[in-house]
Amino acid sequence: MAPYGKSFNKIQPGREGFVRGTRFDPFLRRVYPSEPTNPFRVIFRNITRFMSEVSYYETEQAASEYLLLHYGAPVEVLPYSYGPSTSLNYPVRCVIECLDKGLLSPKARGLDLGCSVGRSSFELARTCHQVNGIDASERYIDIANMLKEKGALTYRRKDEGELFTELVARLPRGIDPDRVTFRPGDAMNLPGDLGQFDVVLGANLIDRLADPRKFLQALPGLLRPGGQLILSSPNTWSQHYTPRKNWLGGLQREGAGQTTLRGLIEELSENFVLVRELDLPFLIREHARKFQWSVAQATIWIRKGRY
Ligand SMILES: C[S@@+](CC[C@H](N)C(=O)[O-])C[C@H]1O[C@@H](n2cnc3c(N)ncnc32)[C@H](O)[C@@H]1O
Repeated sequence: MAPYGKSFNKIQPGREGFVRGTRFDPFLRRVYPSEPTNPFRVIFRNITRFMSEVSYYETEQAASEYLLLHYGAPVEVLPYSYGPSTSLNYPVRCVIECLDKGLLSPKARGLDLGCSVGRSSFELARTCHQVNGIDASERYIDIANMLKEKGALTYRRKDEGELFTELVARLPRGIDPDRVTFRPGDAMNLPGDLGQFDVVLGANLIDRLADPRKFLQALPGLLRPGGQLILSSPNTWSQHYTPRKNWLGGLQREGAGQTTLRGLIEELSENFVLVRELDLPFLIREHARKFQWSVAQATIWIRKGRY
């Protein structure tokens, strides 16, 4: 793991976890004084900022939005009483509304693919003895690991233009962080040493992959017979992430409209039984007066086969 500055190491699990006069910079992956004076640090940050335009998920804005989505208190995300408050806490609801805890043994293993900054992985650890969180973004994995190790970190929420509020993301209560391991990885080319799982979660992942079928084809090998597969997706197909020929749905096929649900059934039915389908709305706050409201389609599947 990348080394972090001395000031960051002052953050202790279980304490307030917030060092005054410092802030976390996801570009540098460390906490530094609120007013940086070292010109080399500023130049380095600008270079990193330029490089990070390659991927939206590598930007500071994205890291901040995902920290807020995963760890923000309701009032920090949505201060308007007339807003869609039932759409908050999406990474938590992906687990509590979809997972059948009754099917899990005390030694259950969970896998959260495209885990981002880690909230669903931590939530899975409430019932799974061991959880692996994997994401293509090393920055997100570093952030998730910081939360695991330090219990809290500061970040900046964009309010308007260049105005920000400093917030603290905290590891939720009642979770044993030692049950969770985060590592970078590609959901379409996973390492062979992962073993098998009782739960696999892919939240808002399939429509961000270049080849979602490659990911789906790896799933039978990742789940034990009887294991639960939870896929949740707003089905926002875009050539920016997925070449059109690889879309699972959202296009005409043989004269009829092919939905993502139909595409998933075609790909998964040989090895999985679809047991439930539900809507999971979620809200991403861009700034104080602009939000993305989406309705993910969650499907829950059970791996076929003998125990
Ligand atoms: C829309 S975000 C969803 C994050 C999180 N699951 C949630 O629901 O908040 C998509 C995530 O997938 C990750 N991702 C994109 N391509 C990936 C890949 N090939 N393998 C693993 N993760 C990937 C991104 O870095 C990002 O964290």
